[in-house]
Amino acid sequence: MVSNPTKFRRILIAGNWKSNKFINDGHAFVDALQTSFPSDPGHGAEVWIAPPLTALAPLAHAPRAGRRIHWSAQQCSAHGEGAFTGECTADMVRDAGGEAVIIGHSERRSLFGESDVRVSEKVQRALEAGLQVILCCGETLEERQAEVHQERVLEQIKSGLLHVAPDDRGRVVVAYEPIWAIGTGLTATPVQAQEMHLSVRAGLAAAWGEEAAEDVPILYGGSLNPGNAEELLRQKDVDGGLIGGASLHPDTFSTIIRVADQVAIERMGLNLSA
Ligand code: PGA
Repeated sequence: MVSNPTKFRRILIAGNWKSNKFINDGHAFVDALQTSFPSDPGHGAEVWIAPPLTALAPLAHAPRAGRRIHWSAQQCSAHGEGAFTGECTADMVRDAGGEAVIIGHSERRSLFGESDVRVSEKVQRALEAGLQVILCCGETLEERQAEVHQERVLEQIKSGLLHVAPDDRGRVVVAYEPIWAIGTGLTATPVQAQEMHLSVRAGLAAAWGEEAAEDVPILYGGSLNPGNAEELLRQKDVDGGLIGGASLHPDTFSTIIRVADQVAIERMGLNLSA
């Protein structure tokens, strides 16, 4: 695959709080993060947090100095406004101050029955609402053991991105999260992660062409923590992380951000001197 040496692929560190933290906890977290927080070094990593929906608007709309955090929702409805009790539309996410939405997280797929088709509808809705999309994919342990993991992940990507218009591609981020590594303390090895990210990028290239595929950030998720962040984030096709457990504590989260900043700055330097 040909990479464009003048281009710099974004690096994102995204915290997924899942069903954790009340509004006050969220404010306390941001205050603590901002004291231990590396201020934006310029060309560093983008920092994203996906709090529970109840906390999204209060956190996103809170006046704060030195804004470095972008806010995301953890999911959205596949429908527009109307009689859909309990659903939150993509436009509502935007109204609440969200700039992105995570779609197709494995917990949504396995615990709440979200099919590939439903995921693709949500991607479409979110893009129509002007949001960025963090599309999750990943295989189960059984799929990996049966050696169908690449096939399964490519299926999820292909179907999730089926309706994305060329103009919207720049608002798509992919998160590869092997399900056996989520919340288990097990992580993909850097070699396994790089191999899967490369295959996701090849899948994107087949669908969108190589140039567009080169621009898409592909995040790794699954027990990413301060101890393994550096080796994972240094892989060529790993462009940041989607982080659950380690995003709940300001110390662990800011340590990972620091590593990502370093990687981003080095990549930029490499690209500029290439
Ligand atoms: P984890 O979660 O970091 O706790 O494994 C990652 C995720 O579910 O996105």
